Amino acid sequence: MSRSPQISASILNADFSRLGDEVRRAADGGVDSIHLDVMDGRFVDNLSFGPVVVEAVRPATELPFHTHLMISNPLAYAERFADAGSDLIVFHVEVDDDPGSVIAAIERAGRRAGIALNPETPSEAVRPWLERVDLVLVMTVHPGWGGQSFIADVLPKMRELRDEVDGRGLAVAIGVDGGVNLETIGAAYGAGGEVLVTGSALYSTEGDLGPAVTALRAAARGDDDADFADERT
Ligand code: DX5
Ligand code: ZN
Repeated sequence: MSRSPQISASILNADFSRLGDEVRRAADGGVDSIHLDVMDGRFVDNLSFGPVVVEAVRPATELPFHTHLMISNPLAYAERFADAGSDLIVFHVEVDDDPGSVIAAIERAGRRAGIALNPETPSEAVRPWLERVDLVLVMTVHPGWGGQSFIADVLPKMRELRDEVDGRGLAVAIGVDGGVNLETIGAAYGAGGEVLVTGSALYSTEGDLGPAVTALRAAARGDDDADFADERT
């Protein structure tokens, strides 16, 4: 099954004083989806935002909203994030809630489900759910903050999942989240990732994000002219 690099803009490192404009800026720059990081201060040691913010920025674009729930009780919140305008709701396999029940709740709300795993969590943990989800999100940082360094030790696990998904002919997409930038996106795509989440690498750029998105997509494929460094200064 051929795949192409999809750039997903994580708004965690955007300017929150004008978040709707920042979502629009990414959409106008040509990204494929918007990634919304929800943190509850329990599953991760940080707090970000809730359904009210997702709802507030929903009108900014028609692009799919991928809502990444880094919360300890996704079962209790899945429907509220669906109602707020999420298209795909991703929860972590490490939570206590039963994954099958969370997926069913997301499906009942008429949305697509995704499952995420932390760097230290083995691929076996998500294998039982690969036929039930549209996205498996491989964390390449320990969740909780933007701007961290990419953990390359996760790449073999990503390759395992890629081989598993291709071997079983499954339609699930593989996402990569954390530290994805011009230097690391090639390795992430090469190891089997296709939904490539990027936050600080994108939002550290002023103005038009078009050149940055084009360069990231080119770097994923390993094209030579993948450079936008001079555009940031
Ligand atoms: C981290 C989040 C990521 C993060 C990505 O817990 O899940 O989505 O915002 O940002 P960068 O690309 O800066 O690592
Ligand atoms: Zn995320």
